[in-house]
Amino acid sequence: MKSAPHFTEASRQLVLEDSNIVCLISDSILHFTKAVADSFKLPMLVLRAGGVSSYVAYAAFPLLQNKAYFPLQESRLEETVEELPPLRIKDLPLFSTCNVDALYQVIQGMIRESKASSGLILNSFEQLEQFSMSKLREDFPIPIFPIGPFHSHIPASSSSLMSQDQTSISWLDTKQPKSVIYVSFGSVAAIEVNDFLKIAWGLANSNYPFLWVVRPGLIRGSEWIELLPIEFLETVDGRGHIVKWAPQQQVLAHPAVGAFWTHNGWNSTLESICEGVPMICMPCFGDQMGNARYVSHAWKVGVQLENGLKRTNIENAIRTLMEEEEGKQIKERMLELKEKANSCL
Ligand SMILES: *[C@@H]1O[C@H](CO)[C@@H](O)[C@H](O)[C@H]1NC(C)=O
Repeated sequence: MKSAPHFTEASRQLVLEDSNIVCLISDSILHFTKAVADSFKLPMLVLRAGGVSSYVAYAAFPLLQNKAYFPLQESRLEETVEELPPLRIKDLPLFSTCNVDALYQVIQGMIRESKASSGLILNSFEQLEQFSMSKLREDFPIPIFPIGPFHSHIPASSSSLMSQDQTSISWLDTKQPKSVIYVSFGSVAAIEVNDFLKIAWGLANSNYPFLWVVRPGLIRGSEWIELLPIEFLETVDGRGHIVKWAPQQQVLAHPAVGAFWTHNGWNSTLESICEGVPMICMPCFGDQMGNARYVSHAWKVGVQLENGLKRTNIENAIRTLMEEEEGKQIKERMLELKEKANSCL
């Protein structure tokens, strides 16, 4: 409790003021709320907004520690983690610049408190993460409620953190079915100028229409899109539409959208699945690498851009998804997964 007095006090206040509270629901990472719940003799449910597979990976950290996966060794990054297929060592939910020891402490607290809670609410569904869920059930002796995808239960606009550009939809209305590449890296990720320009030219050279969300702050050291050269803007005139933020669920549901180039945050991954849009995966940090691995190698509903952004791998990824036989199969599998997602609601 010492580590987060403000949160703790706020929770206490809330409980004191409202005698109708019968249960505390806490995000899994807030590992101190169990103490608050206990002090009021209230049951606590833990809510996990991310995926189950990354949660299982976190829960496996002590095991992985024992098996000497940590500290990470550059030479082993491509190895599959035997305990967590299809994840490779480089897909583990870590943060590249982070101190693994400090993260390890937080993760252990999170897992310990979750196991001691009265139940776990998950933003996922049985048919998507069956294997991880049965692993979780073996390891967690508490009731588990996979009631996701959460976003399907609430109106899309109510959960957006930024104001959305509605021109995205009217622009999509002018495009052919399944022809547009929708590109967004979510609300947190940041990229280098170099990569930004590679993405820009990748889109320009693909010859497909694209809707690109460039959030102010996305590009390190730049305000917005002022670094895009005039030749780029001329090349993509009429074919590319750049906005600061888009109504993502509406965009993904639009018939003109054929692929989603994403950072694979869990929300985006689930939203894409629910609308049946195949993905081009470009994970940045945390659970995104594992999510991308599941998309490309477990569910096989997308392709991952591996080993840095290069002109050739961008072109290959887009071509594979939009033109090739493999892309057709990916689309078919995606539609099956969409069906499963919708039937679980
Ligand atoms: C993810 O979606 C939920 C609704 O399902 C929303 O409350 C939350 O803010 C979203 N997270 C991000 C990072 O956009």
